[in-house]
Amino acid sequence: MQRPPTPTPPPTPARRLRHMTPEDADAAAALFAAARDADGLAGWTAAALRQTLADRGFGAVVHGADGAIVGAALALYAGDDADVAHIAVTPAARRTGVARQLIAALAAAAREAGFARLALEVAVDNSPALGLYAGFGFTAVGCRPGYYRRENGSVGAKVMALNLSTATRLQTHNQ
Ligand SMILES: CC(C)(COP(=O)(O)OP(=O)(O)OC[C@H]1O[C@@H](n2cnc3c(N)ncnc32)[C@H](O)[C@@H]1OP(=O)(O)O)[C@@H](O)C(=O)NCCC(=O)NCCS
Repeated sequence: MQRPPTPTPPPTPARRLRHMTPEDADAAAALFAAARDADGLAGWTAAALRQTLADRGFGAVVHGADGAIVGAALALYAGDDADVAHIAVTPAARRTGVARQLIAALAAAAREAGFARLALEVAVDNSPALGLYAGFGFTAVGCRPGYYRRENGSVGAKVMALNLSTATRLQTHNQ
């Protein structure tokens, strides 16, 4: 007896990485604000984000299967280094490589813009972020005691940097 053909499952819509546009500012600012407790960083208003993108920054977002933004990151172009100002991923999408895609996009854009380093501050107790950056090749280049203020006190930051001239893991493929 001939078996009926196995139905093909509908294709899963691919996750999409792209540059942040002014239209993303509201969603990205909300994502950054929601992550504020974890990362200790100041929030961004949508208006400030739009202005920064226009003046001196680069942002990237990742859309999930339903088209909503599941991750966003912003780098500031000022001084000698490009600086990661914020990165956040929605709790439901974490640990699926979204932040890795975002950092790769920021690093590739900063290198293209002529920067030799991508730098950032990270709270010394933020193990997910520390794991992310170490895996990417960022190394500690300094520390800032009491850098982040939290409700229950302050916490220090590690300053980390990625040398963009030697970085080899800048692939920005969608997963
Ligand atoms: C930090 C953050 C952006 C990571 O986002 P993510 O999309 O979950 O990270 P990825 O899935 O790309 O993970 C990449 C790597 O980071 C490390 N990592 C991520 N989450 C981790 C966790 N909870 N514990 C330990 N390592 C973790 C791992 O090395 C991971 O690689 P692996 O999954 O192959 O082991 C996310 O947890 C977040 O939004 N946190 C709140 C905001 C924040 O702290 N931002 C950083 C400010 S400096």
